[in-house]
Amino acid sequence: MASTNLPRDSFGSKFGVVAASAGSAIGLGNIWRFPYVVGENGGGAFLLIYLAFIITIGLPVMLSEFTIGRKAQRNAFGSFRKLAPKSYWPLVGLMGIIAAFAILAFYSTIAGWTLEYIINSVSNSFAGNDPEVIFENFKSGTFRPILWQLIFMIMTAWIVFSGVKHGIERYTKILMPFLLLLIIIMCIRSLTLDGAAEGVEFLFRPDFSKISWPVILKALGQAAFSLSIGMGTLITYGSYINKKENLTKTAIQVSAADTIIAVLAGVMIFPAVFALGFQPDDGPGLVFVVLPGLFLEMPGGYVFSIIFFVLLAVAALTSTVSVLEVVVAYFSEELNISRKRATVIAASSIWVLGIFATLSFSDLSGFKILDKTIFDLLEYFAANMLLPLGAMLIVIFLGWHLGYKKTRLEITNEGLFKGRMFGVYFFIIKFIAPIAIALVFLYGIGLINF
Ligand code: PHE
Repeated sequence: MASTNLPRDSFGSKFGVVAASAGSAIGLGNIWRFPYVVGENGGGAFLLIYLAFIITIGLPVMLSEFTIGRKAQRNAFGSFRKLAPKSYWPLVGLMGIIAAFAILAFYSTIAGWTLEYIINSVSNSFAGNDPEVIFENFKSGTFRPILWQLIFMIMTAWIVFSGVKHGIERYTKILMPFLLLLIIIMCIRSLTLDGAAEGVEFLFRPDFSKISWPVILKALGQAAFSLSIGMGTLITYGSYINKKENLTKTAIQVSAADTIIAVLAGVMIFPAVFALGFQPDDGPGLVFVVLPGLFLEMPGGYVFSIIFFVLLAVAALTSTVSVLEVVVAYFSEELNISRKRATVIAASSIWVLGIFATLSFSDLSGFKILDKTIFDLLEYFAANMLLPLGAMLIVIFLGWHLGYKKTRLEITNEGLFKGRMFGVYFFIIKFIAPIAIALVFLYGIGLINF
């Protein structure tokens, strides 16, 4: 266990903590996945359920993860082993490592697409072409999408390689404010298109007829996915947070930023979808078809298109880094290998799994299990099963194993903060969140029924 005694890398500033954590949370989940999941599941009603989950489950779980990580000062697996030695709890950490593999495998497919789209934007290939045809041709190929995926994994690995402070923190601090600015500009553009109102209405007017238990589970899965909770990302990042930081404040800031960006992504996309006569339930291709069409019609669209896809890639990158960090921290601390070596092993094995996700869209996609592509399976398995289960076990761990006193001490920095809301938080994580997640999960996968 020599490596666990080495001084650990950590975040250097308050803003660095928020930028890195928000960088993890804000990603393709907000800008690519959120709009199409909302679109496929009924718009406004889904949004309401999603928001309810963010506040009642997402935020408390995020705070819980930070708490575990900062208290233990270890990777996701090692944290449980330190706080609950000789128990089965470390398996929760291991589940997180598996979730990280699954998520990064399919996430890097889409992240790779963003690079192709930067090139398409620069070379102006959308002009005079149907964005739908461009998208179909590209994603059904083999070589190019796999190559982009590899390049994206190399970029991710390079940042993780460079360390927590000099890699992760350094990049996220610059990139996140930029992203926000661009999204606001895009929202203004989208809202001023003719016919935008219909899209706004779709996003904000609830139609409860579309809501069912599987849809509620999807809202929970999306909330967990978007906040990066349930698999130890925030345990790992929490372990790099200084003992002086206010964890509650950080968790609130990060959840709020993530939620605002998701809603803004909806505002950016749905008015454009309706104004240009597309369907909101277009699935994974939504952003890659609708937005290029939008850019063609917008003054200065050439430049906006480049900037948008650069920033989409950047948002993805600050998230992929956080997922890879989960695996790398685990490999290096628990298996005693150097950070660099751990990065190479983790990134390359995830890329190999990721090839199957990428090929799900190709002409070879005869490759199906239970009538679902590998991409769909990885996405469903990770977001709707592993993350909610992970989140549930994490709060049970704090509520029932670590207990009131120790949790309170860590969250209040040994009593420095008053922790006025602590009682409410603890009640939620001890009783409400585990029961709510369990019910949503069991109904959602159809194990129990009315
Ligand atoms: N939250 C990220 C996003 O919204 C994805 C992610 C999930 C990152 C889980 C880390 C852990 O894109």
